[in-house]
Amino acid sequence: MTQCFVKIPDDFSGYPIDQFCIPKHYEQDLESVIIPKGFVLDRTERIARDIFESLDQSKPTAALCVLKGGYQFFNDLLHYLRQLNANSNKSCQLSIDFIRLKSYTDDQSTGNVKVIGGDDLSHLSGKNVLVVEDIIDTGRTMTKLLAILNQYNPHSIKVASLLVKRTKLSCGYRPDYIGFEIPDKFLIGYALDFNEYFRDLNHICVINEEGKAKYGSNSN
Ligand code: IMP
Repeated sequence: MTQCFVKIPDDFSGYPIDQFCIPKHYEQDLESVIIPKGFVLDRTERIARDIFESLDQSKPTAALCVLKGGYQFFNDLLHYLRQLNANSNKSCQLSIDFIRLKSYTDDQSTGNVKVIGGDDLSHLSGKNVLVVEDIIDTGRTMTKLLAILNQYNPHSIKVASLLVKRTKLSCGYRPDYIGFEIPDKFLIGYALDFNEYFRDLNHICVINEEGKAKYGSNSN
């Protein structure tokens, strides 16, 4: 399968934040808007179509949301998949599951990926699993998650990630479906967080140094 994604170039400086609706409490903490929410939705609709076209209808599909960062993308992707399911000549039974992982403190991967909650995964056995993630950075989280999921003997596993970072720290892992390939910057908004802040921001933005200092784990 050839991979298709929107490439955000390294020299793209983003859009000024005063051209978008930004919550007042974050106005000082952002460098720029890098992917407006409308663009995210347009791209998500197309990813849903690509997934739907290659779905194996002979077996049910379990859509697995990686919490918390993946919940917005999951919600919007499932919305488009449900529309396709309801309006096409073919359809596929979808179930919904959640898993919660933790690997980051501030803007640094700890390299220590932990499953800290979620559904009982034993019923993934024999199903096609569609993992829905917000962002692949080094790829270590997804590599670890795939090893965990394989223990439950699914029929197949595909991964859709809204974002993939271009970073020299990548372990080489690439998901099956990619929304945007992005520069090596820490992004927030559309459910992506910095220490649990900024999930309540609609657009995908770059955090500035003031934001990192204000919401960093060493602040107070
Ligand atoms: P990886 O293991 O380095 O690929 O990191 C993946 C996880 O780190 C994602 O699921 C996110 O939770 C988090 N992460 C990595 N980069 C960012 C970012 O730029 N913004 C917000 N979270 C990030």
